[in-house]
Amino acid sequence: MSTAIARHATAIGDCLAERLDSTRQLTLGLSAPLSDADATIQPFADASPAKWHLAHTSWFFETFVLRDHVPGYRPFDERFAFLFNSYYDAEGERHARPKRGMLSRPSLDEIRAYRVHVDEALAQAFTSLPQAALELVEIGINHEQQHQELLLTDILAALAQNPLEPAYAEVPQTACHAAEPLSFLPGRTGIVKVGAQADSFAFDCELPRHRTLLHGHAIASRPVTNGEWRDFIADGGYANPALWLSEGWDWAKRNDVAAPLYWSEDCTAFTLAGRREIDWSAPVSHVSYYEADAFARWAGARLPTEQEWEDFASSADPSLGNQLDEAGAVLPRPPGDIFGDVWEWTQSAFSPYPGFAPAKGAVGEYNGKFMCGQFVLKGASCATPRGHSRASYRNFFPPDTRWQYSGVRLARDC
Ligand SMILES: [Fe+2]
Repeated sequence: MSTAIARHATAIGDCLAERLDSTRQLTLGLSAPLSDADATIQPFADASPAKWHLAHTSWFFETFVLRDHVPGYRPFDERFAFLFNSYYDAEGERHARPKRGMLSRPSLDEIRAYRVHVDEALAQAFTSLPQAALELVEIGINHEQQHQELLLTDILAALAQNPLEPAYAEVPQTACHAAEPLSFLPGRTGIVKVGAQADSFAFDCELPRHRTLLHGHAIASRPVTNGEWRDFIADGGYANPALWLSEGWDWAKRNDVAAPLYWSEDCTAFTLAGRREIDWSAPVSHVSYYEADAFARWAGARLPTEQEWEDFASSADPSLGNQLDEAGAVLPRPPGDIFGDVWEWTQSAFSPYPGFAPAKGAVGEYNGKFMCGQFVLKGASCATPRGHSRASYRNFFPPDTRWQYSGVRLARDC
C-alpha cells in the first residue's frame, strides 16, 4: 500500500462510510431495470453478467476487508468465493470467465441478499476497522465504481444482441448542439511531472509521480465527432490499408469492421436508450485503438501520448463533464468534455512507471500483471461515476476493444 493512499485514507476516514454506502446503492440502482434473465446473460467472454458484477464487488469487500480484518466474520456462502473471484490467483481457483453467463443460480434475489449481508457486516464493523482495512475499503469503493461502468457497457453489449432491441432505460432528448470548430492547442514542452499527486487516492499504476520529457506537440480542443467519423468512412477510411497498422487491418478484415460498434447503415446506433439517430455533433464512441489510430493518420494527426494528454488535462477539473451521477442510461453528448463522454485512446502502452511497485498483498494483482498488450485510455466517459477519475488515471484495454465508451482526441507534432 502506498503512503499516498494511507495518508488519504486517514484524511477521509469520516466520510468513507458515506461514500461506501452511496457507491453500494448506486450499483443496486443500476441493476434495478434488469430482469433476472437480463442480469444473467453474458454477451461475450470479456464481458460479465450484471449479476456477476453485483456479486463480485461484494466478494471483494467480503474477502479483503471482512474475512481478513473482522474476527468471527461468517461468509454468506463459502461457495461464492469460487464463483465470484475474478482473476486473483492468490485467492485460489475460480469459475471460468467465459462461463459466467451460465450461472442461472444463484438468482438475482439471492445476489441482492448477499449484498445486504456484506453491507450489514461492513456497517457493523466499520468503526473498529484497522487502518489497513479502511485503505482496502477505499480501494473497494474505487473497484466497485469501475464495475459500475462495466455493468453499463456489458448490459449495452448484451441488449444489442437482442433483435427486439430493448432499451435499458430512457434518456431525455437534449437540444441540438453543433460541434465546435476543431483547433489544436500547443502543449508544454520540456520536462514535466506526471503521475498521481500524493494528496489523493490513486491506484498503484499511477505511481510514482515522476519526470518525463515532452517534445513539441499540440492537442485537439475537443474529441473527434460522429460527423467527422462519417467523413472518414465516406472517404474510404476502412478500405485503405495505407491508413492502418498491419495488425489493425487484419483485425478489421477478419471481423468485417467498417464503422463504430453499434452503428447501422441507416444512420442510427444502438444505445442504452435503444436505437437512436446518430448525433453527428457528439463524440464518436465504441471505436478500437486500431480504428482510432487509422482515423488519426487519415486526419494528418496522431494519437496523443498518455503523458501529453495528462499534462494537457492537468488544469481541468475532473469532477466536471458528462459523467455518471445517478442510475440510468447514459450517452456521449456534444460538445465532448475532457473528463466525460468518452475515454480517449492514447498511443501509450500500459506499462510500469519508473519505480512502480505493486500494492502489497492480494490486491497487488489489481493492475501490474496486466501491463502487457494493452493501451492507456485517459479521461472519463459518460458511464464513469463522477469523482472516480483524475488526470493521472490510467484506464487500459487491449487494442481491439470496442464495447467501452472509447473515443479519440487527436494530437500533432509541432
Ligand atoms: Fe473486479
